[in-house]
Amino acid sequence: MAEAILEVVGLTKAFLGLKALEDVTLSARFGEITGLIGPNGAGKTTFFNCVAGVMAPSSGTVSFNGHAITGLKPHEVARLGIARTFQNIRLFSEMTVLENVIIGRSASSLMGAFLGAMWQGRAFLQKERQFRDRAMDLLKFVGLSGNTGRLAKHLSYGDQKRLEIARALGTQPKLLLLDEPAAGMNPRETETLMELIQKVKNEGITPFLIEHNMKMVMGVCDHLFVLDHGVKIAEGNCEAVRSNPAVIDAYLGRPKKIRHPLDACSPS
Ligand SMILES: Nc1ncnc2c1ncn2[C@@H]1O[C@H](COP(=O)(O)OP(=O)(O)O)[C@@H](O)[C@H]1O
Ligand SMILES: [Mg+2]
Repeated sequence: MAEAILEVVGLTKAFLGLKALEDVTLSARFGEITGLIGPNGAGKTTFFNCVAGVMAPSSGTVSFNGHAITGLKPHEVARLGIARTFQNIRLFSEMTVLENVIIGRSASSLMGAFLGAMWQGRAFLQKERQFRDRAMDLLKFVGLSGNTGRLAKHLSYGDQKRLEIARALGTQPKLLLLDEPAAGMNPRETETLMELIQKVKNEGITPFLIEHNMKMVMGVCDHLFVLDHGVKIAEGNCEAVRSNPAVIDAYLGRPKKIRHPLDACSPS
């Protein structure tokens, strides 16, 4: 069995009286695409926030590549090799596509290079060119090389999501957390995104996604975890999760119109 790249044990996160996560234990393995699903408010984004250092868990531990990272700051977690995209797009809308990737590459490295430029102008230019070349490669990788000079705000929604992925990849992560990457995408964009996630995996980066689009989840994920009310209620491969009574109940036992995994997974 593949090694775990991310291991979370007994993770609890409480907001005043509400336990957004309760004793969640799960791991993501190298080279697999892991999915985290569950109804709205289940605690999925809170889980990513605790892994990425945005929130400190109330209790429990997070290990990445065998090293404890619980309670580290977001930039420390990022430096170790975890990148993420957000549920709501967070781009610099007035900057170009290329600039968005360059700036995400490493603000601190750019600052270091800038300071160095005070006595070594040439080195700065070289560094800047390296970042630019790398950003161009990433934009090519996500399929946006024809849009480098456009303002981010002028991209289609699907392209903005892919730009976010390019920017996240710029930090050279080993684990890529994607929070609802297909939300708001049309079927064609979702198809392209699925291919991109496979490509990311083939590059040796482990994707871990939160997603509501069950066609996508079932199409790309090797292993799934299901959260409901902050508690892990199921895990396994798509087939096992799809037929798990607790999962069916979590989705169907709600008045909200959430697509049921069984509907989304029927062969089309
Ligand atoms: N910063 C916060 N402060 C207080 N409550 C929060 C905060 N973030 C999330 N919550 C609550 O925690 C629960 C889980 O939220 P979230 O992790 O965003 O769920 P999901 O991503 O599965 O939809 C929700 O009830 C939400 O209102
Ligand atoms: Mg969420």
